Amino acid sequence: MIVGSIKENTLLEKRVSVTPESAKNIIGLGLKVYIEKDYATHIGINDKDYKDIGAEVKDTSKEVLNSCDLITKVNCPSDDEINILKDNTILIGMLNPSKNKNQINKIIGKKIKPFSLDLLPRITRAQSMDVLSSQSNLAGYRAVVDCVAEFEKAVPMMMTAAGTVPAAKVLVIGAGVAGLQAIATAKRLGAIVSATDVRAASKEQVESLGGKFLTVEQTENMETEGGYAKETSDDYKKKQAEMMKEALKKNDIVICTALIPGKPAPRILTEDLVKLMKPGSIVYDLAAEQGGNSAFSEAGKINSVDGIKIIGVKSLMNSLPLTASSLYAKNLFSFIRNLYSKKERDFNINLEDEIIDKSLIKKV
Ligand code: NAI
Repeated sequence: MIVGSIKENTLLEKRVSVTPESAKNIIGLGLKVYIEKDYATHIGINDKDYKDIGAEVKDTSKEVLNSCDLITKVNCPSDDEINILKDNTILIGMLNPSKNKNQINKIIGKKIKPFSLDLLPRITRAQSMDVLSSQSNLAGYRAVVDCVAEFEKAVPMMMTAAGTVPAAKVLVIGAGVAGLQAIATAKRLGAIVSATDVRAASKEQVESLGGKFLTVEQTENMETEGGYAKETSDDYKKKQAEMMKEALKKNDIVICTALIPGKPAPRILTEDLVKLMKPGSIVYDLAAEQGGNSAFSEAGKINSVDGIKIIGVKSLMNSLPLTASSLYAKNLFSFIRNLYSKKERDFNINLEDEIIDKSLIKKV
């Protein structure tokens, strides 16, 4: 059986789905690996690095798509690529079915089996495959690094002969995967960190990282059985806005990570709230591509309002493609290992396995 991967559209996506390390692990299962020429040269990994561990390098994407039993991708393949894919191929990537309906219909029509890793159930056994966690964790780290680069003051408290510089104050909205990593990173840089989340359970996690939890008093249970946030009521929104008023006046950097799966990003910072911040402050909106947690945020842009910078994030993983690829490829290898039966020397699409069943797109 052959596992293959072709280049992404590198103008939009710098990550790759197979690294030399993951290719070695795939070959270790008893499978072959084919990649397209110059597969990862744009991020400093040469074809020779793949050849050295036993992968084969093909001159064109067509050769790879034509000959492999399983194709790995970061993003959904293009129409042209789908046309070349063999019937019955297994395709694994972050296919984002709600965004790519036409392509997915075409894929299913060709009897290709599309697995989307963004649909994995968040169960313990699937943790090593959890691409949303691995990529969001990096996003939380990078959010702080980007903010510090844009912020025109020092972050840690500095006591010098010339006087004392106070530590910057960072507020994190949404204490999920990205939010918790943002808290940890901002703390490491010496910031005074606070955070808020609708899920009461996140209080303990924020505090364990040294952050102060800002609570919105409420009686509703804001958490679903799966551990995700529910949409907030008008009453909650009002109380949250009141709490924000004071917090925004004090904080220098606000990192927005609030997310409700399958819904547009909750709008938390209205125009009036943003304008309460001091000139020189920063709002960093990780949810910009889902509509934004903050007013004035636009994906891929830095907008300035009354001296406040609102950074709308786009394709953040392109800022650290090597680490993002390394983690993504590890997630993908774990998925392939679960799918492959060494005994039968074949991929085993066992729909009784929750991981396989939930991640296989059957219709859109
Ligand atoms: P997550 O689901 O782990 O965390 C989101 C948190 O927001 C949850 O703890 C939830 O309880 C909280 N939340 C929901 N509604 C809220 C509200 N109204 N007020 C306060 N908290 C609220 O999500 P994750 O994986 O941390 O992702 C965070 C954001 O970062 C998402 O928008 C995601 O799409 C984005 N992201 C962007 C990337 C990029 O390249 N642009 C890469 C990775 C993540």
